[in-house]
Amino acid sequence: MINEGNRSKNEGAPALLRWYHSAKRPFPWRETGDPYKIWISEVMLQQTQTSRAAEYYRRWTELFPDVKSLAGADTEELLKAWEGLGYYSRARNLQKAAKQLTESGSNSLPGDYFKLLALPGIGPYTAGAVASIAFGIPVPAIDANGRRVFSRLLDLEEPADRPAGERAIRDTFSSMIPDNAPGDFNQAVMELGATVCLPRTAACSECPLAFLCLAHIRGTALLRPVLFRKEQGRSADGHLFIFLRKDRVYLRKRPEKGLWAGFEEFPWEAPPAEASLGIPGTLIERGADMGTVRCSFTRWRVRLRTLLVPLGEREDPPLSCEGRWVGSDELLALPLSSAGGRARKKLFGLSVIPCPGRPVRAGDG
Ligand code: ADE
Repeated sequence: MINEGNRSKNEGAPALLRWYHSAKRPFPWRETGDPYKIWISEVMLQQTQTSRAAEYYRRWTELFPDVKSLAGADTEELLKAWEGLGYYSRARNLQKAAKQLTESGSNSLPGDYFKLLALPGIGPYTAGAVASIAFGIPVPAIDANGRRVFSRLLDLEEPADRPAGERAIRDTFSSMIPDNAPGDFNQAVMELGATVCLPRTAACSECPLAFLCLAHIRGTALLRPVLFRKEQGRSADGHLFIFLRKDRVYLRKRPEKGLWAGFEEFPWEAPPAEASLGIPGTLIERGADMGTVRCSFTRWRVRLRTLLVPLGEREDPPLSCEGRWVGSDELLALPLSSAGGRARKKLFGLSVIPCPGRPVRAGDG
């Protein structure tokens, strides 16, 4: 319970909402009440910065403006629209959920927390966000920002990512949500965590909740949250290979399960982050260095040296994986992972293969 401040926690929600109405950033999903669009924004925002999510959100909601168009969309087109956001299972789950809704005879999202939770790709956070923002249901939507804000409000000594800590956060959060503005309250907590109550700087002088924040009062804000699982970034170096046969390049197909399931990509490996493709060391010496591309997934930061390896007309890459040769038109149209997209940009930028739509300069070709 928050009870050591000068005022009661009942004053917290009005103070936070007043602050939110004056300080909130103008995002496109804050201009709509459409549950479908709010759902899309929340799924995009799960692993993506707000400014980047805003660009994708605009494009996505133009291409797929409602549940029906999403359910009926070509999956490849869908993944292409998601390209660059990463964690493609999110896009696949969006479509799975849309199909489930249309198949059950509905073209809209249910206004019920538990029915939302039952849809593919929707966990407690997303169900809470959609239920509260789109349907005005007073349930919490606790993301990492909310967890930090409430760990500090409570000066929580228990790990915020263990059941006891999670329960304490959820109980206090739930008790503060006003019935008349649950969506704004949830977004206000996120906004506070994203702009004021930051991991490495707590701008308590600007915080509308400083008067009841136990960590602020006790001077422990930067020690909270305590986490059981420390976020550890891990890095790895590896190689990405562009095999070139005339003006076609080789893409391998990823397995149907796991990271970037079913995607095609330039073969790469970065042990220990990725299982070996059986690439012989001699290949590395044979490749022309096209510079480094970076990518990150889960907790890994990976740097990949991009090597261009020209092959003979009938030669196949010496790899232990399935793949196929594609020309530039198809390469441009395919959804690729972020590293793949950057490697493709290099390939076209250096005119290794002709970029579709780009005029051929005199002397080219
Ligand atoms: N992060 C997650 N959901 C958000 C929202 N609705 N507004 C801003 N940031 C968010």
